[in-house]
Amino acid sequence: MILVTGATGAVGREVAGQLSAAGPVRILARRPERLTVRGGGVEVVEGEYGDRAALDRALRGVASVFLVTNSPTEPDDERVAAAAAAAGVRHLVKLSMMAVEEPGADDFITRRQRENEQAVRESGVPWTFVRPRTFMSNTLSWAPGIRSTGVVRALYGDAPVACVDPRDVAAAAVAVLTGTGHEGRAYAVSGPEAITAREQTAQLSRVLERPLRFEELGVDAARTALLAKYPPPVAEAFLQSAERQRAGAKAAVVPTIQDLTGRPARPYRIWSAEHAEAFAPEAGRFAGE
Ligand SMILES: NC(=O)c1ccc[n+]([C@@H]2O[C@H](COP(=O)([O-])OP(=O)(O)OC[C@H]3O[C@@H](n4cnc5c(N)ncnc54)[C@H](OP(=O)(O)O)[C@@H]3O)[C@@H](O)[C@H]2O)c1
Repeated sequence: MILVTGATGAVGREVAGQLSAAGPVRILARRPERLTVRGGGVEVVEGEYGDRAALDRALRGVASVFLVTNSPTEPDDERVAAAAAAAGVRHLVKLSMMAVEEPGADDFITRRQRENEQAVRESGVPWTFVRPRTFMSNTLSWAPGIRSTGVVRALYGDAPVACVDPRDVAAAAVAVLTGTGHEGRAYAVSGPEAITAREQTAQLSRVLERPLRFEELGVDAARTALLAKYPPPVAEAFLQSAERQRAGAKAAVVPTIQDLTGRPARPYRIWSAEHAEAFAPEAGRFAGE
């Protein structure tokens, strides 16, 4: 049995969906009502990482775990890895991030992920780290601005990033979860090309068949917007990360998706066409915005 966490999020949702198409899968979710993956072979355990009894229930009889965490403060990786070790789990596949292997990346979020990886290593459970670059789905945060004014506002419009489709990250994780010989390995994962925010805006404009304008945000305006949504260390980490992108640190393309799945990584052109409705005027009404 494989246990999937983060199944209401961008990658875990896809991992659960892809695994459930092939066999039984168990999901740990703290808000099961938000799950979109259902079906005969899907077993759901309600609970969160801080609830050891729920973790133990979820891990009973499990051979492999797909682990997604996103708290900047909670020791969630340590909690899940300790419970997995006690349950005799044979393989823990952790969703991490590409920046952890880049010496120039020293922001709060990257440091946290390095600590999280270390906690998994120290648990004694055989591990694999899947370390993606920026998700294409982050551009969904542009949807309200696109709908209301046709304007995308972001930092550093000409800075390239080899962003990756979360579906491909999931496919790589599924290959690792269901294959052999991946223990003790870390896989950097990127999309097929480096693309800028200005180019992504142009691509969305083509898909939506309406003119969109890119407006570059200054650092101060970006900081104000980030501080309205995140605690200061997280907001600063996003700014530092954007600055590394401006300096060209996120443009490298790696062949991992092809190597692990046998299929080429999807470009932003495909992702944007498949998610056009999320940017369309009606989407806001349904989302209750
Ligand atoms: N976004 C990017 O560009 C990017 C790039 C590289 C790496 N990453 C890494 O990807 C990870 C996030 O992946 P994602 O975007 O697929 O996920 P996400 O959309 O951020 O969702 C996080 C998932 O984890 C679940 N979760 C969080 N805390 C939990 C807890 N205490 N107990 C149970 N479930 C919990 C959430 O459940 P709820 O629905 O209940 O909240 C949700 O399903 C992070 O580690 C991030 O560093 C992101």
